Amino acid sequence: MLYLLPMGIKPLSLEEIKKMTVACRIAADTLTYLEKYVKIGISTQEIDELAFDFMQTRGAKSACLGYHGYPKYTCTSVNEVVCHGLPDPSVILKDGDIINVDVTAWIDGFFGDTSRMYMIGNVSDEARDLVETAQMARDKGIEAITPRGYTGDIGFETYKYVTRKGYTVVKEIGGHGVGRTFHDEPFVPAFGKKGKGERLVPFHCITVEPMVNQGVEDVVEFNIPGSSIKYYNTADGKLSAQYEHTVLVTDTGYEILTLP
Ligand code: MF3
Ligand code: CO
Ligand code: CO
Repeated sequence: MLYLLPMGIKPLSLEEIKKMTVACRIAADTLTYLEKYVKIGISTQEIDELAFDFMQTRGAKSACLGYHGYPKYTCTSVNEVVCHGLPDPSVILKDGDIINVDVTAWIDGFFGDTSRMYMIGNVSDEARDLVETAQMARDKGIEAITPRGYTGDIGFETYKYVTRKGYTVVKEIGGHGVGRTFHDEPFVPAFGKKGKGERLVPFHCITVEPMVNQGVEDVVEFNIPGSSIKYYNTADGKLSAQYEHTVLVTDTGYEILTLP
């Protein structure tokens, strides 16, 4: 049977997959490098500068800097900040905080996008459970990827896992195609129906990056001066957590390119 590729998606060549692998390796290694620094007393601005230094040493640029006017190298989203938190010298991590650091490395024309949570000092059991749920939600979503599958397969599993735990997922922001461009087709929501949504394409990369809220799913949007990128907080001020991998869809399944 003739299989038509979705409009606008061009699968990667072997050589391009190698470049994508390099970009993803640098992004993932940045998050690992940060581990020993993301502790009580560091500012999110300092985290941003450490990430920049590391990426630069490895020959990569931050994809975030200048992206729609975004002024920093990474996103640092603390506690009730859902995503795109702006690194800030006045935001100092304290005991019990949870923070997502989101890194996108750009090298040789390819983007590698990944994020993870760090738990600062002694976090509450509630916060830890939310963080663990976000990580597992992402991984359940990834496990649903098949070569001829749909974005809805991923969202379905993510949503099921999160809601059974009593949490909510953010609907308006989600994963995306990634590769030669930072944000490509398709949109990869953290909810959906099996067999619905957009088709996955072998040898195209997507991110899986569910945002999991402790309370309501609603978010409040804030402007970042000089940029059309917004940052988002939970509407009720409760915690939010997120993990992100870049994943290559293959002809037999998938390969996670941003493993630690
Ligand atoms: N890395 C984010 C994502 O997961 C996007 C950040 S865009 C920025 O898609 F401009 F805010 F950095
Ligand atoms: Co992303
Ligand atoms: Co990201």
